[in-house]
Amino acid sequence: MDVVFIFEWLDASMLADFAKKWAGLFAVVQTVHIVSMIMLVGMLILGDLRMLNMVMSGVPSDPIIQGTKKWIYLALAGIILSGIYESSAIAMKLAYNSFFFAKMAGLAMGIVFLLTIRSSVYSRAPDSIGSNGPQPDALPEWVVKLVASTNLVIWFSVAANGRWIGFS
Ligand code: HEM
Repeated sequence: MDVVFIFEWLDASMLADFAKKWAGLFAVVQTVHIVSMIMLVGMLILGDLRMLNMVMSGVPSDPIIQGTKKWIYLALAGIILSGIYESSAIAMKLAYNSFFFAKMAGLAMGIVFLLTIRSSVYSRAPDSIGSNGPQPDALPEWVVKLVASTNLVIWFSVAANGRWIGFS
């Protein structure tokens, strides 16, 4: 499907005019993008390494996973809004950039994975990993660890593709 028209529309928008005109504000929004990424990836890494029993293994996993949730959603909102603003200023470059499309595909996959598999598998972690007490419907350890590793790989690829846009 040819999606170039979306980038043409964005390039001709008032948002693009604004973003191209105010370089100082663009730098601030770029900072918001990076700070949101640090928060997003930081919170995800904390939960995933906990499930791999590599950090805070003496602390039950439930409060860690539940406590990081709202920061993950907040960071996602910040990164998506700042990302759209940044994209408007360079829309026609992005229209032909395969790293941008790889990043968007990874982002979609990451969000679906986060809201479905990651949250349901983590809530059924066995006591040997989660330290949340015995669970009647606990999953095997390797399933939880596989989900944690997969999540890390997906979000690492999103961040790496994001950085690569700048080099291409
Ligand atoms: C709808 C969501 C997003 C959009 C539209 C978007 C868009 C952009 C754009 C246009 C740039 C500037 C590229 C350049 O010229 O250097 C950028 C940079 C970047 N993005 Fe995103 N992004 C989004 C989400 C994310 C997410 C979820 C992550 C990480 C998990 C991420 C990580 C990065 C990184 C690491 C950079 C490079 C920052 C730099 O070196 O200055 N982005 N993004």
